Amino acid sequence: MTVIEIVQGDITRQDTDAIVTAANESLLGGGGVDGAIHRAAGRRLAAAGAEIGPCDPGDAMATPAFDLDPPVRHVIHTVGPVWEGGDFGEAEVLGSCYRRCLEVADELGVRSLAFPAIATGVYGFPAEEAARIAVATIVGTSSAVERVRLVAFDREGRDALEEALASVGEGSAVTS
Ligand code: APR
Repeated sequence: MTVIEIVQGDITRQDTDAIVTAANESLLGGGGVDGAIHRAAGRRLAAAGAEIGPCDPGDAMATPAFDLDPPVRHVIHTVGPVWEGGDFGEAEVLGSCYRRCLEVADELGVRSLAFPAIATGVYGFPAEEAARIAVATIVGTSSAVERVRLVAFDREGRDALEEALASVGEGSAVTS
């Protein structure tokens, strides 16, 4: 059973085997959490992204973590859906982001993985619905990842995640 943790903080400061970035399809870096991770990992991250990209929305691809501090070994790049009102498959694409990141983490032997709130910034996905999708997908996906840390950047995001996790009941831990 994967334990789910919720924290409020900066994903570039998390001590997990891998961290997920909310990228754009080019994987060359951008703003928001992607910008923060590229700044922390250094210029080699964009070069590595250029080698493996582009990445389709809902898919996930891994690179080394370069200048990020240990134990982070991998950055898993995923591309969320741009929110267009909810009738264009956005929920399915977001669920696929979380599922594919867990699959890639399993391929890498990752045991602890940190996620930002994918698609809830520039891409405009409502935080509460995104949190429900994130928790439901992680709880519903069989994975060897033992610890998933959901990293909220602000109080609103953290509350949304804690509410989503509380609604799925036992089997997952909340530590904040
Ligand atoms: N640590 C954790 N979370 C963060 C950090 C950080 N350092 N910085 C921002 N966030 C949060 C935001 O508050 C938001 O809740 O990450 C979440 C995702 O927001 P974005 O980074 O805007 O990502 P997204 O909405 O998926 O949009 C992706 O933005 O930066 C560009 O290149 C990126 O085109 C892509 C698009």
